[in-house]
Amino acid sequence: MTQTLTLNVNGQAQALSVAPDTPLLNVLRNDLALNGPKYGCGLGECGACSVLVNGMAARACVLPISAVVGHEIVTLEGLAHEGRLDPVQQAFIEAQAAQCGYCLNGMIISLRALLNRTPRPTSTQLRAALEYHLCRCGTHLEILEAAERAVD
Ligand code: FES
Repeated sequence: MTQTLTLNVNGQAQALSVAPDTPLLNVLRNDLALNGPKYGCGLGECGACSVLVNGMAARACVLPISAVVGHEIVTLEGLAHEGRLDPVQQAFIEAQAAQCGYCLNGMIISLRALLNRTPRPTSTQLRAALEYHLCRCGTHLEILEAAERAVD
């Protein structure tokens, strides 16, 4: 049964008429045309769908929208401010970390979440933040370089 729920996405209130158990990822991509978060496994395992919820990384494919009403959701599209990319986004460009790029949404979101709570993380903390993200292209070294650049 559909309900009208209002989500706070990238600083804007979005009223939606949807079933409350609809995964957040479906709403972001299908209803709000926010395609930064990707559909990978749909099981909460690959990290491609990650978004920030109250500044913490969360997997949108397994998060019903009823659970995020009243919380602040930020997608990859919402990281840039006043025409400037987030330093994590900029670092990934400078390190040329993308091959296919499918995993990068999750990598960037998790690093932003880490930096929100730990502004000067160690290399070990950076690696730990990326531990549960899958990259099939194998650009891991460039991704780690981007992570280090994001801290500098
Ligand atoms: Fe959500 Fe894989 S698509 S964790």
